[in-house]
Amino acid sequence: MPTDPAPPARELAAIIRDEIARTGAMPWARFMELALYQPEHGYYERATQNIGRRGDFFTSVSVGPLFGELLAAQFSEWLDELPPPPAGGPLQLVEAGAHNGQLAHDVLAWFQCQRPDQFAALEYCVLEPSPRRQAWQAEMLRAFAGKVRWFRGWEEMPVPGISGIIFSNELLDAFPVRRLGWDAAAAKWFEWAVRCDGDAFAWTRLPLTDNPRDLFHPLTLPPELTAILPDGFTTEVGPAAVAWWRQAAGALRCGKLLTLDYGLSALDFFTPGRAHGTLRTYAQHRSSSDLLAAPGQQDLTAHVNFTALQSAGESAGLRTEALTTQSRFLTAIATRAWNATAPPTDPAVLRQFQTLTHPDHLGRSFSVLVQSRRPSRAGEDMAR
Ligand SMILES: C[S@@+](CC[C@H](N)C(=O)[O-])C[C@H]1O[C@@H](n2cnc3c(N)ncnc32)[C@H](O)[C@@H]1O
Repeated sequence: MPTDPAPPARELAAIIRDEIARTGAMPWARFMELALYQPEHGYYERATQNIGRRGDFFTSVSVGPLFGELLAAQFSEWLDELPPPPAGGPLQLVEAGAHNGQLAHDVLAWFQCQRPDQFAALEYCVLEPSPRRQAWQAEMLRAFAGKVRWFRGWEEMPVPGISGIIFSNELLDAFPVRRLGWDAAAAKWFEWAVRCDGDAFAWTRLPLTDNPRDLFHPLTLPPELTAILPDGFTTEVGPAAVAWWRQAAGALRCGKLLTLDYGLSALDFFTPGRAHGTLRTYAQHRSSSDLLAAPGQQDLTAHVNFTALQSAGESAGLRTEALTTQSRFLTAIATRAWNATAPPTDPAVLRQFQTLTHPDHLGRSFSVLVQSRRPSRAGEDMAR
């Protein structure tokens, strides 16, 4: 029996039902896009408070300011290594997926306090397509007014590109993914889509119109693997995340591109334990696989394919510097920072560090991909 959705979910459900009535079964990626980003009722448009103790899930940012402080310490070292940008412009930190602006606040506060020289010279850019989220961020970052600029998309970014660091935390796991299923009898992939079933939504299958080779790129699925995939085996591909990474790589003139997120290597999506894919919902700190329930009322998230991101960045001319666990990445930063000063004794800071790095908390499930572009000879010459 379908449950009665809460009012905002009912409005969003009606919008989805209308679109299905007009255009037919809705591919999952479109359902996910509306559920998360429909401008009035999408999950990430509705409220700032969906992350953290009183929200639906924790992120490293919501653990406390230490995460932003450690990232800032690392950024500071990287900025010190960069040549000055052409025409004497500022070095830039570009954050995407800033949500309520908390990470931006923690990073900027660290620079202001620990490296006022760099703080004075840098520009903080927030890449944020949503006017509503821009307003939340501006409110959080009032103390840094004048230091922060907003851009709705890559096309608005200043030419000749970013000299500095482009970064995100848990951005790409929130991008709509395509959900594919394996038809063992036909030895073919199909696309999972959503249809109406009375007042509820139900799954249906659509023929896959794209070449699966392109969708799984750079992984070539070995025939020995497809020969034993069970009927209905389900997985996701994230062309939107890969396209975003490619654009970010293209926008980076010189410096680093990094993201922290939970994810897998391309082949790990095909282990027997993942036969239903990695998509999950989160509401009030409970995870479920009921992806079609209450659109707009719960978070929807899928694991990031780090192999695909790495390959997209390298194809755009970036060098991979690290693909490691959050635990190793943050521990290395903390070790350098705390050797230079003194290790913290405040139990609240130690608790944050443990939550961010312990394998049973966020330390092992989260990975960090760092890629870089060195300045071109011409760029170096211009900078001098
Ligand atoms: C899981 S939340 C993470 C928020 C924050 N970075 C943190 O770690 O707490 C994902 C955020 O990415 C935002 N987002 C999704 N697509 C985006 C895009 N194309 N550009 C910028 N932000 C985006 C969502 O609106 C949401 O605020």
